[in-house]
Order: sequence, then C-alpha cells, then structure tokens
Amino acid sequence: MSAEIIDGKALAATFREQIAQEVAELKSATQVVPHLTAVLVGDDPASAVYVRNKQRACEKAGIESTLKRLPAETTEAELLTLVKELNADPGVHGILVQLPLPKHINETAILDVVDPLKDVDAFHPENVGLIVQGRPRYLPCTPYGIQQMILSTKMETAGKHAVILGRSEIVGKPMAMLLIQRGMGADATVTICHSRTQNLKEIVKSADIIIAAIGQPEFVTADMVKPGAIVIDVGINRVDDKLVGDVEFEGVKEVASAITPVPGGVGPMTIAMLLKNTLTAARILSG
Ligand code: GUN
Repeated sequence: MSAEIIDGKALAATFREQIAQEVAELKSATQVVPHLTAVLVGDDPASAVYVRNKQRACEKAGIESTLKRLPAETTEAELLTLVKELNADPGVHGILVQLPLPKHINETAILDVVDPLKDVDAFHPENVGLIVQGRPRYLPCTPYGIQQMILSTKMETAGKHAVILGRSEIVGKPMAMLLIQRGMGADATVTICHSRTQNLKEIVKSADIIIAAIGQPEFVTADMVKPGAIVIDVGINRVDDKLVGDVEFEGVKEVASAITPVPGGVGPMTIAMLLKNTLTAARILSG
C-alpha cells in the first residue's frame, strides 16, 4: 500500500492561520506587532529565496518584517555591530541571521551575540542548553516543524526507534533532543548516523521513524526502509534543475506508512515555526 503523503504545505497553512489570529489578538490587546529582522549577507541565490519566502510568510500573518541586506565583503566586526544594534532595538523581537555566512565570517562568533530572547532560530548556546535540559524557550524551526508533522500522523512514537541521518547543529542534533524528550517530544529511542557510521543501512532498516538530513540526493532507498516506517525528508538538492530530497520518494512511498514530499514537505513547516517563534518572542519581550 502506498504511504500517506504528509502535506507540509497544507499543515503549514493551518498553523499560519492560527498564528495570524494570535498576532491580531496580541495587537488588539497590547498594540504590539511582532517584528522579525532577517540579516542576509552576500548574494547566495538560494539564501535570498529562503529569506524572501520567510518575509512573505511574515507579512501574510501580520508580522512586521525587515531585511538587512549586506554585501559579501562585510567584515565580521561590521556584522557584529549590526547584530548588537538589533539586540538593543526594542522594536525588534526576532533576529534571524541567514546561514551560511561568507567564509571569512565566523558563524559561531555571530550567533553567540544574538540576544537569546530574540533568537528565533534557537541557535544561541543558551537556547540549545535549555532544549537539552528539556525546558525550551524556542525550538529550532526545522526540528519543530518535523515534530509537528510526526504528530500529525497520530502514530504512537513512545519507545519507537527514530534514526536521524546527519549530525548538523541546525537539524540532526536538536532533532535528536526533541525525539528523546518525554512530554514535549516523542519519547523515542534515537540513533544519529553520520558519514563515519558503520552498518548504516542496517541501522536505518531498523527505524520506525527516519529523518534524512544529509544533503545527498535520493540517498535513502526502498530497500533501507522498514515497512510501515515514517519517513521525513529534510534534503533539498538541485539535480539537473530539479529539486530532489535525500529520499528516493517514488520507491520509498511504497514501503513507508507516511512520507514527506520535496518540495512541499518540511520547508513550509520550517517557515511556519519561524512565525510561531517570532510571535513567542514578541510575547516574551513585551510581557
Ligand atoms: N540556513 C538554512 N537553514 C536555516 C535556518 O533554519 N535558519 C537560518 N538562519 N539559516 C538557515
């Protein structure tokens, strides 16, 4: 039987409607309009598209959005100065520094100075620490969106084996923290695989939940998937001018019980969760 296709676009639309309503309620109760400022350094075309999509989504939800666009030659010191100005600006609730930054800028040095209360990406070490301790202030947008997609399948996740492919700071590591958590998470048993993992195929085959976030086109094939597994595809790879995920969709959908498409899966949910975090930031900073 063919898998349920988890429609990230439709699920994200539902979240965005709810967020828009809450933004309107916050405004009428307190006059506060949530405000996200995105910082884009350089001219990576993919990053420019992502930032534009985030801004559009903000506007549709009634969230104010500003873009600070800086040239590729911007120095680390100049970017630090901008981030500090945004930290000090009471009219800015959320700060998003789009990654990757140009190679001459130390990303960690920049992310470390973002005010943790305005850190809607949840990349600051204080926010990462709170997640690890199971008392999150913000959840990072992609893992948060994936958590909601898994919840939408209504599958019992407690005690199930979740296998994450990829150990990135943005997806793999925080995803593992969410999946193992009681309460806010899935109560799952978690394995993180990476480029040095041995017996990777066997490990993936034992998974009830697979999260593929390695940036390798169609890496996960049907023979690696246990029948009935939930498969979440975080990959966005351009192959011959076509977008493909990290999962070989056509084959895997015949084995899995639920699967996310690319595009229209995880991407729209990431943006919806960014809006949710920006609303939370406005509440925290104005409350
Ligand atoms: N680049 C790729 N994903 C992300 C993200 O979630 N946030 C930011 N700031 N940059 C990214």
